[in-house]
Order: sequence, then structure tokens, then C-alpha cells
Amino acid sequence: MRVKLLAIAASFRADSLNKRLMDLAAAEATARGAEVEVFDYAHANLPLYREEEGGALPEGAELLRQSIARAHGVMLAMPEYNWSIPGALKNLIDWLSVAPAPVFEGKPMLLLSASPSARGGVVGLTQLRTPLEVLGAFVYPQLVAIGKADTLITPQGISAAKEAKFLATCVADFIRRTEQLCSG
Ligand SMILES: Cc1cc2nc3c(=O)[nH]c(=O)nc-3n(C[C@H](O)[C@H](O)[C@H](O)COP(=O)(O)O)c2cc1C
Repeated sequence: MRVKLLAIAASFRADSLNKRLMDLAAAEATARGAEVEVFDYAHANLPLYREEEGGALPEGAELLRQSIARAHGVMLAMPEYNWSIPGALKNLIDWLSVAPAPVFEGKPMLLLSASPSARGGVVGLTQLRTPLEVLGAFVYPQLVAIGKADTLITPQGISAAKEAKFLATCVADFIRRTEQLCSG
């Protein structure tokens, strides 16, 4: 079985560190035989979810819902904002949580973050896993938080051997687990 992964970098910035990290994760996954679809995060520029509105999902949320539904697993990279989840991403998750079909249910997810800080966004990722797990996602146990990403992540890869190996190992193991889950 060829594993199909969806790659999401949850930043609107053109020179996003998280886009760079997700490009590396996607390249690693492709090299290991997975098929990778990239979600264009510009579609995540959504109105704020208001409970009383109900009705259909906005176009961007519907596009993402369909992309997640097509994928066996999802790799999601997120900047840490104020030790937490960026509002736009939380808003997107809230929109998807009210979709008629539970799109995160049983979905393997690998969470990543790149930051110029030493911690690499790990605090934000520990918070991100909560709503995803509440919605039924199987979040990969290791959180791939790459600190000092503004110097370590180059177009050629991650310049620190330890971090580069950690990313490669997590992506490979995530693909293996996703294949097990989806073929079993
Ligand atoms: C509103 C705001 C809050 C931030 N808070 C944090 C933080 O809590 N931890 C951290 O490591 N970096 C923080 N940063 C710095 C981001 O990690 C940095 O801007 C990073 O490049 C954003 O990711 P991106 O390049 O993928 O857009 C913050 C940046 C902004 C704009």
C-alpha cells in the first residue's frame, strides 16, 4: 500500500520557517515512498467561527476537510504563538469540528513546529494535540519541535545532525504506523 499524506504548514508568511520544515518533512516522506499532497494554507483565511451561524463550511475549510478525508495521515507544522496555538489554526480546527462527518476521527497525525527560539514551539504543540485528540486523531507520540530554526533550517536540509536525524526518524516511523493502521 502506498501511504498518502497531507502536508500542512500553518503559517501565512511567505518565508515561513514552518513551511521550510514541512518541505523537508514532505521530501523525507516522498523519499520513503509516500505520496504527499500539500495544502495551501492561504485557504485557511476564514471568518471566525460563530456557533449561531451553523450551515455550510466556508470554502477553505471544506477544501481542507476533503484533503484530510483523502489522506491516510496528516503532517501539520505550526508556529508557536504566545506559547500556544495561532488563532487562525484554532479557528480552522473549530470549523472542521462542526463538519457533518468527523474528519479527524482515527486520523494519524504528525505534529511539527519550527521556531527561532531554543524550545522550538514544543509548548504550543502539546496544546495543539489536545483538540486534535478530542476530535479522535491519533497523534504521533513524538512532537517534532525544531528550535533555532532560523539558522538550522536551510534549503539543503537541517544543518544540525541530531535534529535532522530526529525529523527523518519520526517521519519514517509515522509512515510505518500510518500504513499499519490503514491496512489493518
Ligand atoms: C504573535 C506572535 C507570538 C509568538 N510567540 C512565540 C512563542 O510563544 N514561542 C516561540 O518560540 N516563538 C514565538 N513567536 C515567534 C515565531 O516562532 C516566529 O515568528 C516564527 O518564524 C513563526 O513561524 P513561521 O515563520 O512559520 O511563520 C511568535 C511570533 C508572533 C508573531
